[in-house]
Amino acid sequence: MRFDVLTVLPNIFDCFLQEGVIGKAVSHGKVEVNVINIRDFAFDKHKVVDDVPYGGGPGMVLKPEPILRAYDELTKDGEKPYVLLTEPWGETFSQKMAIELSKKERIMIICGRYEGVDERVKTIVDKEVSIGDFVLTGGELPAMVIMDAVIRLVPGVLGNEESLRADSFMDRGLLGYPNYTRPAVFRGMKVPEVLLSGHHKKIELWRKEQSLKKTLKKNPKLIEELKQKGLLTKEELEILKKIKNT
Ligand SMILES: C[S@@+](CC[C@H](N)C(=O)[O-])C[C@H]1O[C@@H](n2cnc3c(N)ncnc32)[C@H](O)[C@@H]1O
Repeated sequence: MRFDVLTVLPNIFDCFLQEGVIGKAVSHGKVEVNVINIRDFAFDKHKVVDDVPYGGGPGMVLKPEPILRAYDELTKDGEKPYVLLTEPWGETFSQKMAIELSKKERIMIICGRYEGVDERVKTIVDKEVSIGDFVLTGGELPAMVIMDAVIRLVPGVLGNEESLRADSFMDRGLLGYPNYTRPAVFRGMKVPEVLLSGHHKKIELWRKEQSLKKTLKKNPKLIEELKQKGLLTKEELEILKKIKNT
């Protein structure tokens, strides 16, 4: 899988691409990430990438030419990437979207800055993506959020793929169960007895209960939907009945 990230602030990505799971995925060649400085594709000798908005108003707008020139250069092999543009009003990023994106061979992410990008850049964009209803100074953090969520889904990136299945939103959208580690008692707070029992079946059942309890509390609509679609097992329906009666 390959990412091409178009930005005016390429250094922001340095740590992200060197550390942790993502750093390993890059250094082990599981994923290729090219961070491209939009400024390198500016026409003039001052490498200007932004200009004042037509019609007046505050701030600057990213010019279309450097971005489209970078796109042309990166796609001259004839391979078209799936192009994302970070925008506060875009489709809200989700685990579902991350799963869909993880199936793509090649993704380009265009990071907006200032007041945003010239509207004509959108002629090459497949999807505008938001990471939430708030406004950031640029699309670099959203690009890292998107890449992080997508790259960890690429086969072979996580040491233990079992952990993907237990993640929130992965198993039919259910939320994850709570985790504990040593010590068994900390400041008087005890780890639930069942987790110390070594009884795998009971632990699995407890985790299922906790996951359903959490989802029921935070997203009851999803539980209702799964019920109506017949996507809950008999055991899960019984657990839910028990939870509701307590
Ligand atoms: C200051 S913002 C521009 C805000 C824009 N003028 C508006 O009306 O919302 C600069 C850039 O940051 C990025 N950005 C800011 N918030 C974002 C969010 N919640 N999700 C994705 N990208 C965001 C976009 O690329 C945007 O073009």
